[in-house]
Amino acid sequence: MKKIFLTTRNNKVPILIGNDIITSKLLSTHIKSKNVIIITNETIGKIYLKKIKNCFKRYNTQVLEIKDGEKYKNISIFTKIHDHLIRNRFDRDLTIVALGGGVIGDLVGFVASTFMRGVKLIHLPTTLLAQVDSSIGGKTAVNHPNGKNLIGTFYQPDSIIIDTKFLQTLPEEEYTSGLAEVVKYGLISKPSLLVWMNKNSKKILSKNKDCLSYIVSISAKEKVRFVSQDERESNVRAFLNYGHTLGHAIEAAMNYRNILHGQAISIGMLFASMLSVEKNMLDINDFNLIEDTLEKLNLPTEIPKRIKTRDIVKHIKFDKKKQNNRNRFVLLNKLGKCVINDKLTDNFLGNMIEHYRSQ
Ligand SMILES: NC(=O)c1ccc[n+]([C@@H]2O[C@H](COP(=O)([O-])OP(=O)(O)OC[C@H]3O[C@@H](n4cnc5c(N)ncnc54)[C@H](O)[C@@H]3O)[C@@H](O)[C@H]2O)c1
Ligand SMILES: [Zn+2]
Repeated sequence: MKKIFLTTRNNKVPILIGNDIITSKLLSTHIKSKNVIIITNETIGKIYLKKIKNCFKRYNTQVLEIKDGEKYKNISIFTKIHDHLIRNRFDRDLTIVALGGGVIGDLVGFVASTFMRGVKLIHLPTTLLAQVDSSIGGKTAVNHPNGKNLIGTFYQPDSIIIDTKFLQTLPEEEYTSGLAEVVKYGLISKPSLLVWMNKNSKKILSKNKDCLSYIVSISAKEKVRFVSQDERESNVRAFLNYGHTLGHAIEAAMNYRNILHGQAISIGMLFASMLSVEKNMLDINDFNLIEDTLEKLNLPTEIPKRIKTRDIVKHIKFDKKKQNNRNRFVLLNKLGKCVINDKLTDNFLGNMIEHYRSQ
């Protein structure tokens, strides 16, 4: 089992990573409260609750299952969870365990940060995306009808226990979608990871145990490095948004349907890489390596035909309202080195998207 720490201004959060590591002994070193509530969804509950509950025998443990889906990451479910905690007379002697992917992690993290002004929180991330990205960094949120993640807090958990065994039951598309975020770390700071993924794509797709352990721990370390340098996303944390400007716009243009986050980010990363070549920063051979790796990992690189370039630009423009009215793109100076470019005009972007689509 690997152990790393996320050190922020006020916290030192242990992150444990390994295959099949969740035991009652491990939990007892990380949970000190008398009462525990495990919050998960019905899909994950069905597969894992029996086994996980067994490891919580020494605590006074309750379980709360919510429905599965991004659409339940909302303020009404948030309130219902609070109602449940209040009805069951929980007090501050409580640890909330978030067992699930990014949806559960974001929602339950938000509950933990607000119930009684904040109670203990443990993340048990079960998707690749949650293990390499969303469970690390302390962002919590629910969606608002006007936009994703508009309501939330920064709240660090007491520990994050990353058991890669969960990934064995993860649906294939969810898994490859999470791989996009792993590729991202290769592009923005660890070129050796990109090269390794390109060489070992078959093993990665087969969910080989050692591969999982390698990619999850290296990604978690990278996320920790970015977050601890910049907890509230003013500067280098923004590099984690590589591929996300176009990716988010594609997700929004498709109404968040028929495309997973990582798939949209895969397209966004290749587009940002093309812009980086266009600006004479990234070597064309590196661009080819990026494209080849994404394709070998079954990730899409083409913008879906059903959406119009002008809709994509519209969504990029909506995004930029939050950023001093400029289009902010993370580009690559070279492989492993990011720069922010906020001088790309709508017109230039529209033309580049058309150019990208025609290739
Ligand atoms: N807080 C952050 O920093 C941050 C970063 C990135 C994304 N997010 C958020 O994360 C969310 C997406 O998270 P996600 O991609 O993990 O999706 P998700 O939580 O919806 O999980 C994807 C699907 O996989 C199922 N599942 C989860 N674990 C499983 C397992 N081990 N076996 C079988 N099925 C399993 C879930 O029930 C769900 O159907 C979005 O809401 C996004 O906004 C947050
Ligand atoms: Zn992402």
